[in-house]
Amino acid sequence: MAGPTMTSQASSSSADAFGGHTTGYQHPTEPSHPQEDENDTDGDDSTVIADDASDSADSGFDSGSLLGDETDTLASSIVNYRMENGRQYHAYRDGAYWGPNDEHAKEILDFAHHMYLLTLDRKLHLAPINNPQRILDVGTGTGIWAIDMADQYPGAMVIGTDLSPIQPEWVPPNCIFEIDDVSLDWTFPPQHFDFVHIRELFGCIPDWDFFFAQAYDHVAPGGWIEIVEHSVHPMCDDGSMPPDHFYNEWGKTVIELGEKFGKSFTIWSDAKEKMERAGFVDVKEVRYKWPMNGGSWWQGKERDVGRWNQLRLHEGIEGFMIRLLTQIGGWSVARTQLFLAQMRKELRNYKVHAYLPGTVVYGRKPV
Ligand SMILES: C[S@@+](CC[C@H](N)C(=O)[O-])C[C@H]1O[C@@H](n2cnc3c(N)ncnc32)[C@H](O)[C@@H]1O
Repeated sequence: MAGPTMTSQASSSSADAFGGHTTGYQHPTEPSHPQEDENDTDGDDSTVIADDASDSADSGFDSGSLLGDETDTLASSIVNYRMENGRQYHAYRDGAYWGPNDEHAKEILDFAHHMYLLTLDRKLHLAPINNPQRILDVGTGTGIWAIDMADQYPGAMVIGTDLSPIQPEWVPPNCIFEIDDVSLDWTFPPQHFDFVHIRELFGCIPDWDFFFAQAYDHVAPGGWIEIVEHSVHPMCDDGSMPPDHFYNEWGKTVIELGEKFGKSFTIWSDAKEKMERAGFVDVKEVRYKWPMNGGSWWQGKERDVGRWNQLRLHEGIEGFMIRLLTQIGGWSVARTQLFLAQMRKELRNYKVHAYLPGTVVYGRKPV
């Protein structure tokens, strides 16, 4: 695969601080996407695509839509979103990612950003980067981390990449976003970035060894990489979660669905070894816990994080799971909704002191 063609396409119309690789894009004022059929609730045949994305699969930008050297309007293959079971999904690389990209999903992503700030004591990263010039945020989501980083490091250029154009229009001048599939060959120049950041790409990457090899090639000597991930299988240290507890069924189900989908959910525990295998050195792993709720058993920061996690999961699990369960697992919508309802019930069970373990892993490319 030659690599993500959207950015290469863009480079022909603009030279920039990144060696002509990329350009900013302009959000369409009214992204057109198919309307959901309200009567269609059986989940089997609920998918609508307004446009055949494959027609323009090689171009991220509509031909003839150039507004100038630096901006292009987004091609229909990117903004003709797919509707499934009442949720909106990305169109570029249709089906590659399990999560919706609608307003609700964006809000849930931003909750998680807040939780990471609480977890890391307001820090945006743990890697000891010094005066970075070029920063890459892979799978940037709403771009909230990239925007904060651009503010924190005004001397750096921050690029956020994603399958979905869900980032805001008004961002710091040193922050740009691209539509790109990070599981393909990276088209950035080699040895380019002082810092590559990855957060919550669990269930998104088919081959993490290939991914870290790509990252290694594109990090500058002496530069850093950091990956922040959490488990999907709740754990418990005090025996309050019995072996037959629903959380175990939940965790097992998500991990199996990831395997069936071909994109693992266990990178939180595998990242250190994979990063070292790719050649990174001084690799450190820092562990954290995200309690399933903010029950009074938890104290201090963990209780605070638990409150947010409870809210995020309670409101967000449909988005996390409905595509995986119905499309990959083949479950009916009714069975899926029962499973989600059970999860919401357990999230309000304060007798079980369970948490999602997570890791921040960072390492350096030797000089
Ligand atoms: C769980 S979200 C995390 C977003 C962001 N990193 C954060 O922490 O707020 C995962 C993001 O990765 C993006 N994504 C998934 N697969 C991708 C791929 N192959 N290439 C680029 N982005 C991808 C999704 O569109 C989504 O925005």
